[in-house]
Amino acid sequence: MDFEILQPGLEVINHIAALKVSLRSARLAQQKIALVPTMGALHSGHVSLVKKAQELADIVVCSIFVNPTQFTDPKDLEKYPRPLEHDIRMLEHAGCDFVFMPSVTEMYPEPENWHIDLGPAEFLLEGEFRKGHYQGVTQIVKKLFDAVNPDLAFFGQKDYQQVLMIKNMVNYFHLPVELVSCPIIREEDGLAMSSRNIHLTGEERIQALVLSRSLYYIRDHFGETKIAELLENARKLVRGTPGVELDYLTIADGDTLLPVDEESGKSGLVALIAAKVGETRLIDNIILN
Ligand code: PAF
Repeated sequence: MDFEILQPGLEVINHIAALKVSLRSARLAQQKIALVPTMGALHSGHVSLVKKAQELADIVVCSIFVNPTQFTDPKDLEKYPRPLEHDIRMLEHAGCDFVFMPSVTEMYPEPENWHIDLGPAEFLLEGEFRKGHYQGVTQIVKKLFDAVNPDLAFFGQKDYQQVLMIKNMVNYFHLPVELVSCPIIREEDGLAMSSRNIHLTGEERIQALVLSRSLYYIRDHFGETKIAELLENARKLVRGTPGVELDYLTIADGDTLLPVDEESGKSGLVALIAAKVGETRLIDNIILN
């Protein structure tokens, strides 16, 4: 579906060539260009990325593309929410300059066999549950970087491992882009904002609070309780919640994502959780120090 220019201030672009033309004058004027890559179904977390991008750059491009190559479950891809008109209004309201909404054939004119070395952390945590996911994520982010050529790119800390993988890709290709990781935006009751929350029923929405509660429990007792015991108690909390199926809850080194114990030292640690609530898989994390 092609969208027209809606009003001065927000231009909706569907093709890479047109995007490059539109950004040319900004580049010639040496303006800083920021990219906020998204898969749409925008919420306040995405708006916070756009706002941060506006602070640090002159021109903000937000991309909306539900990237098929990062989905391991075709049903998940099919049911991914796509409220495009709502998304465009939100970006308009946020004062974003360009929305890039390519088709699948625009981004993948031909099938591609893609592999880059993202390091051992690719296969841990999310990588274990969603095989090949980060190859798909880095593939599309690289293509978006090629299309926009941004000075800065903004990602949410909620996808902690994703930010790490993209950082590894940027280092791998020596890409001239600065990555900015922005804090998790939460609902008042602690639920991390996610495009997938829309799938939760009223009851599941309440059950899902156990994700952030377990992380808060770890944060609040960190340093005074042994790591193994902290994890055991937090996992018990999650497993004791009806309707919630825990995939992992761990305290890991923030760079390697390897689990830590008392001997590992206690700096740069992050607690990460993934769980299915009903049919919806959610992730969350908290930086501990
Ligand atoms: O975080 C997301 O929404 C996606 O993984 C991203 C970075 C836009 C790549 O498709």
